[in-house]
Amino acid sequence: SKAGYDHFMLKEIYEQPSGVKETLIRRLNSDGEIQLDDIKMTKEDLDKINRVYIVACGTAYHAGLVGKFAIEKFAHIPVITDIASEFRYRDPFIDDKTLLILVSQSGETADTLASLRYAKEKGARILSVTNVVGSSIARESDDVFYTWAGPEISVASTKAYTTQLVSFYMIALDFAIRKGTISREYYNEMIEKLKDMPELVSKALEQETHIKEDVAKELKNATSAFYLGRGLDYNLAMEGALKIKEISYIHAEAFAAGELKHGTIALIEEGTPVIAIATQEELFEKMVSNMQEVKARGAYVIAVAQEHNKEVEKAADKVIYIPNVDDILSSILTVLPLQLLSYYVAVQRGCDVDKPRNLAKSVTVE
Ligand code: F6R
Repeated sequence: SKAGYDHFMLKEIYEQPSGVKETLIRRLNSDGEIQLDDIKMTKEDLDKINRVYIVACGTAYHAGLVGKFAIEKFAHIPVITDIASEFRYRDPFIDDKTLLILVSQSGETADTLASLRYAKEKGARILSVTNVVGSSIARESDDVFYTWAGPEISVASTKAYTTQLVSFYMIALDFAIRKGTISREYYNEMIEKLKDMPELVSKALEQETHIKEDVAKELKNATSAFYLGRGLDYNLAMEGALKIKEISYIHAEAFAAGELKHGTIALIEEGTPVIAIATQEELFEKMVSNMQEVKARGAYVIAVAQEHNKEVEKAADKVIYIPNVDDILSSILTVLPLQLLSYYVAVQRGCDVDKPRNLAKSVTVE
């Protein structure tokens, strides 16, 4: 049941504080350390791994792009994130020093499952991040990390994504402390910050009224929209663009903001909506200049930024704030306004939010 919400999608958006919390606390032992019971990799197995591929489709692929940042930053292992329907046909270099991480809410996506079988045959170790216990992908993996998001009914994925992000942060921190690539102090500090996330997720969702009443109307009649970001925010831009395309049928594209000058900026004209994601402290000034560049060419700029960065207002027409957060963990919060924006734009356009045209919840054909 929709528990009083108009759509499953909105209900599932609001289940994120608890999904994030469940995924996290089930793996924290009494000493507050990460204990990945389902991951049987020993320190020896881990030390052997010299390359990671993260393979998935759609929103799960976008979570895998963030996973790459987390694993490379914390555990110092090179990671390639790939789309399952591309990975399996491009003869990737795989041997017994390769770890393949599959991400799949349903655990049944055909191309993701085929990638698993392909890599297993070549000797890779297989770890999956999935939401469905006993699913095909879970059954055929060496190690499974379950996201405890609860059943996801809406075709547009929301809570599966945020719990996949939490999974990646935990896997990366666990690998890192075991490999000795981060200090015990930093590890403990990051776990404390993860523990604050459920509350910060709730806080970020308080932007709902602002998004519904002030921001969604700016996109409602758009035929096209652009999502810009740098660093982690570029991956969030991709997820934001996918979400609005699939449920509101507005054409949307994500661009790495630094690529604007290499062609994309030609698309900007009077009134073009640009969603500028500027949550990365380290890249904030650079994002503000990119926003000024598109604004000078007539773009209508909707920015997403951390609460303390009020300076963003000089380059934006509308701002949606998220709570202050570390650059590396921001993804868990940044996606929330993007989900709410897609939801309200779709509702205001009269779209069938939970069952968008041409789509199925689980894609079991290739
Ligand atoms: C988008 C969406 C899809 C899925 C993709 C993978 O909102 O839901 O892009 O993320 O079809 O599905 P799973 O995660 O079940 O493998």
